[in-house]
Amino acid sequence: MINNIYMMVAMTKKSNSIGLNGDMLYHLKEDLKYFKETTSGHTIVCGRKTYFSFPKRPLPNRKNIVLTRSKSIFDGAITMNSKEEVVKYAQNNPNEIIFIVGGDNIYKQFMDVSSKLYITEIEENEKVVADTFFPQIPDKEWKLIQKSDYITPENAPKYRFLVYERKK
Ligand SMILES: NC(=O)c1ccc[n+]([C@@H]2O[C@H](COP(=O)([O-])OP(=O)(O)OC[C@H]3O[C@@H](n4cnc5c(N)ncnc54)[C@H](OP(=O)(O)O)[C@@H]3O)[C@@H](O)[C@H]2O)c1
Repeated sequence: MINNIYMMVAMTKKSNSIGLNGDMLYHLKEDLKYFKETTSGHTIVCGRKTYFSFPKRPLPNRKNIVLTRSKSIFDGAITMNSKEEVVKYAQNNPNEIIFIVGGDNIYKQFMDVSSKLYITEIEENEKVVADTFFPQIPDKEWKLIQKSDYITPENAPKYRFLVYERKK
């Protein structure tokens, strides 16, 4: 586990769904605000596909790190080519908080090194259609340390913010 690596995701409650056809499942106003407030002033790491789904690149007021296995470089962002490079960067910069912000592929790879999970849990009465997912959060490995009240938008399912910490 790396103390300064966290993950942040918005996912549905039953199936851990996070995206469809390269886009997020929901664009929730308060969630986008929470994402901005939580990650601003820190560092975000995302896969190349997620980076290109951002409306504005790089995301302002944050250090943006983009993962790709190609030789591409991204204006205004730092390019890294492996998980190991990100882990080494985190270890060499222990005062920097690094949020892994997706997608599917990247979450799965970083689950074992992350120390906290910032989850926006979206109510899911009927299973949604999705093609990308967040990994399971086993109770024996993770402890819930924060839980907000529900936000109930008019045209989307209710949702709330959870924070998990890895059990020692
Ligand atoms: N709900 C949420 O909170 C949330 C958050 C983020 C994303 N999403 C959704 O997730 C979906 C995208 O996820 P995705 O899994 O398809 O794509 P992704 O994880 O964003 O990007 C995958 C790409 O990252 C690069 N990559 C992955 N592992 C790497 C490694 N170990 N070293 C170097 N490069 C690496 C590769 O880029 P190259 O092909 O360039 O080599 C790979 O093709 C979208 O639908 C998006 O909306 C949802």
